[in-house]
Amino acid sequence: MRQRIVAGNWKMNTTLLEAKSLTAELMGMVGDEVRGDVKIIICPPYPYLHALQSQLGKSARIEIGAQNCNEHASGAYTGEVSAGMLKSMEVPYVIIGHSERRQYFFESGKQLAQKIDGALANGLKPIFCCGEPLEVREAGDHETLVKEQIEEGLFHLNAEAMKKIVIAYEPVWAIGTGKTATTAQAQEMHLVIRKHLVDKFGEETANMVPILYGGSVKPDNAKEIFSCADVDGGLVGGASLKSRDFVEIIKSA
Ligand code: PGA
Repeated sequence: MRQRIVAGNWKMNTTLLEAKSLTAELMGMVGDEVRGDVKIIICPPYPYLHALQSQLGKSARIEIGAQNCNEHASGAYTGEVSAGMLKSMEVPYVIIGHSERRQYFFESGKQLAQKIDGALANGLKPIFCCGEPLEVREAGDHETLVKEQIEEGLFHLNAEAMKKIVIAYEPVWAIGTGKTATTAQAQEMHLVIRKHLVDKFGEETANMVPILYGGSVKPDNAKEIFSCADVDGGLVGGASLKSRDFVEIIKSA
């Protein structure tokens, strides 16, 4: 059985006070309502990582992740945060290559491969995002593009390193739009990704890598999407900012 995971990507939202109350609400609800071994991760903005990490405590049922890291180890990169810094804060997860980073901050495949290496070298577990924009889907080139993204970001790894990666397939046209992929579309793409991993890393490794779906996951569609054979959970944006919605999505996994 692959690890099932539900991760919340808070993006650039919440004040510190709001972040703390959301965390407190989640801790309460998860403690009372969530059974089973689904892994729960929240990814708040950088400045809140330390406070929320302390709030969650060592044995917390909820783990924490960053939304990005810089590809360099240290130095004159004003405003940036390195994987080593996240390691020093005992942050276990980091999202790498989110489509908003690719789109608004022009992150390239080569740069993302470097971020993956930096994260792994510091013992962080990367959640590597891929997914096609609407025009690529409409042109019928989504499989080709997503395979390329996976090759650029991950194919330089060996099988041992690949086993530490979580992949999130997030079609850009479904992010924040209220438009989700159908279960057929999600399963199709997750299988494309899985088969591509089999070709490169072999069955054993490919079958261990959790592939999360992301893009307008909500309490009313989560169960259906998570029922697909190759969907191992979700990366949730908007709905992860509402404790009740996020917990319902966790319970669906
Ligand atoms: P959404 O975002 O759930 O708001 O569509 C998903 C994501 O960007 O990770």
